[in-house]
Amino acid sequence: MEKLVVQGSQHLSGTLSISGSKNTALPLMAAAILGGDVSTLSGIPNLKDVRTFARVIGYTGVDVSLNPDLGTATIDASEVTNPEAPYELVKRMRASFYMMGALLGRCGHARVSLPGGCAWGPRPVNLHIDGFRALGAEVELDKGYVTATAPGGRLRGGRFKLTPSSVGATINLMLGASTANGTSIIENAAREPDVVVFGEYLQAMGAHIDGLGTSEVVIEGIPALHAADFANCPDRIELGTFMIAAALCGTPGEPVTLVGGDHTQLGDAFIEAFAATGAETEYGTDAIVVRAPAEIQPVSVETAIYPGFPTDLQAQWTVLMTQAAGNSKITDAVYTDRFKHIPELRRMGLNAIVVDNEVVVEGKTRLSGAYVMSTDLRASVSLVLAGMVAEGETHVQRVYHLDRGYEDLEGKLAAAGVEVKRVSYDEFADPEHEPAHA
Ligand code: EPU
Repeated sequence: MEKLVVQGSQHLSGTLSISGSKNTALPLMAAAILGGDVSTLSGIPNLKDVRTFARVIGYTGVDVSLNPDLGTATIDASEVTNPEAPYELVKRMRASFYMMGALLGRCGHARVSLPGGCAWGPRPVNLHIDGFRALGAEVELDKGYVTATAPGGRLRGGRFKLTPSSVGATINLMLGASTANGTSIIENAAREPDVVVFGEYLQAMGAHIDGLGTSEVVIEGIPALHAADFANCPDRIELGTFMIAAALCGTPGEPVTLVGGDHTQLGDAFIEAFAATGAETEYGTDAIVVRAPAEIQPVSVETAIYPGFPTDLQAQWTVLMTQAAGNSKITDAVYTDRFKHIPELRRMGLNAIVVDNEVVVEGKTRLSGAYVMSTDLRASVSLVLAGMVAEGETHVQRVYHLDRGYEDLEGKLAAAGVEVKRVSYDEFADPEHEPAHA
């Protein structure tokens, strides 16, 4: 296994760059299956989830070639020989369920494993399944697999309301609806930038889509899409994470520069909450400059669908709030049990009370370095942030969770002055007797 060893009391300075968006790259790759020929996607980050999804797509007979140096994925979808996504791959990554819409849209048939639970609790796919039924698919569940068939080879289209709004279900239904033999209307559709950029790619492939970025998306199906090249957008969650890191660990008043991000994709709620902490931010076209405040102000937040405060930033916000000049409350209304980071942060000194989906965080807390364990992607990065601000050394174990969604995190942080190293370790060894890291 690998872990990150983070030296505490760190000052972040200089420049950090933002990679391509993970949560947009995955649906773009799924959409390329509809193209029927070779599409090249650029701005594809070098991440474990991208590599896993390339394997999922490859299983169908589509050829995927990733070039991490160029940040491209070249997808030759001339042939789909096996419209299936097996459990062994789907269990590694829930977004593999996008194969349902992509294969239904391309072949009129799909057999995809049900994803199962995720690290922080149940994450159902009932809306995806009910939605495909509403668009005309015959869907059966058998032995852990979902088999869906479009009678006559094409979905007929239809109307479906998402309750609650769902990023994944919106994307999946748009994939299937693009080649339907009729019009589809998705009500209460997700408005997240990931969905909008993905929809723009479908449009570039010839799809007829109206209402992107609104809560009603209308897709007029056409017989087939054509291949197209497309540039992915930057990762807004990585941007938000680095903004929080700069407010937390920057030298007060000194600039930390973030290049390649797009702050307009963060949503107003995050931008407003961030300003309320006292951090100063200049939003330029090429770069975003953040200056840490002399004293971080406590700011309570509640997650919501876009443009609300992103659930993918609440764990990082919790760490920021441990250093605020008072107490604050963090509520997750999207995933009501996404708090696996709290017990690990408590090992570092966090004082927090968790009731239902709310965490009350005590400010001005002295965190101290400890051995902690990653449980999921955003929880893991919150432990790295805590390690940067703690006294002493923090060992963030099971770092493979981080590798799913942060491209070269330690390289980027090290270039901005943070002492952090990746080290192999034996999960079952007594940490007290581990050799000093080299
Ligand atoms: N939901 C249902 N039924 C469904 C689908 C969703 O009840 O069939 C509920 C969920 O339980 C949740 C809400 O709808 O309460 C919203 O979930 P959504 O479907 O929007 O989430 P997702 O598509 O599975 C994506 C991101 C997540 C991010 C959420 C919310 C990807 C690959 N994943 O998940 O990102 O937290 O949207 O913004 O795009 C991450 O990057 O760390 C991550 C987990």
